[in-house]
Amino acid sequence: MEKLLTFQDELNDYREYFHRAAAQYDQTMAHHLELQQLIDEYSRFVINPSNHVIWEQLQEERSDELSLIADDLRQISARCVAIMEKYRALKLLDGSSGITDYFRNIESCIEQEFSGFQVTSASRVLMVGSGSFPMTPLLIARRTGAEVVGIDIDEESVQLGRAIVDQLGQGLNIRLLSNPVEELEFTGTATHIIFSSTVEQKYDIMDRLYPLTGKEVIVAMRYGDGLKSLFNFPSQETDSRKWQQAGKILRPDQVFDIALYRKENIR
Ligand SMILES: C[S@@+](CC[C@H](N)C(=O)[O-])C[C@H]1O[C@@H](n2cnc3c(N)ncnc32)[C@H](O)[C@@H]1O
Repeated sequence: MEKLLTFQDELNDYREYFHRAAAQYDQTMAHHLELQQLIDEYSRFVINPSNHVIWEQLQEERSDELSLIADDLRQISARCVAIMEKYRALKLLDGSSGITDYFRNIESCIEQEFSGFQVTSASRVLMVGSGSFPMTPLLIARRTGAEVVGIDIDEESVQLGRAIVDQLGQGLNIRLLSNPVEELEFTGTATHIIFSSTVEQKYDIMDRLYPLTGKEVIVAMRYGDGLKSLFNFPSQETDSRKWQQAGKILRPDQVFDIALYRKENIR
């Protein structure tokens, strides 16, 4: 019991640290080191196997208080990941770059995503939630020569992302936009769609994409269930008349997992 209470206290501490870190962002790099350390530590926390055991025990209690803490942590940590990408972009644009555990983690995820994805130079990839440091679009375009469009709801992220692509992605076919999927011509011809794990409305957007996309399109949905749902929006059931799960890439030692979906009608 004591262990469970300590765990909950630890979650509350993370929650407080993340809220403080989010409030500190002032479009400069002043607080980037603190947030980098916090995100790296939190990444280790959510993949720690002993924490998974404690999390499962806590689920049995069905505590409303824990649900509230989890909801808030998921939201605020997602916001802080977006801020961390801003810091990373500002750092690169300022000429001083570095790579942290969190970003190594994401980059190794991209490698695995490829394996279920078969992206070629003829592919047209749409990324929902491309972020201020658009690693996935850059890596896909560089590795495969595919055309990539990234969209982000946050205008500052689109602006920073474009500056990063100008610097790191010269000659690559990448466009970053702030339009919703309904307003993009690209949506109708996309062959692959990737969702960032920290896009809260990702399943709603996937549902809206059904009538807008071609029948062969493949969706890679990043998500985190169980303890990982403290750092990601979790997976959801889809309408089986629309999207069918075509595979899962489970990665116990990484911050999020990937579910692949295809349209039901092509089976
Ligand atoms: C930090 S980035 C990418 C993080 C990480 N690579 C991942 O897979 O979650 C997530 C981005 O999604 C954007 N975002 C959140 N909700 C969105 C939405 N509904 N549509 C488009 N972008 C969204 C945020 O502004 C943020 O820049």
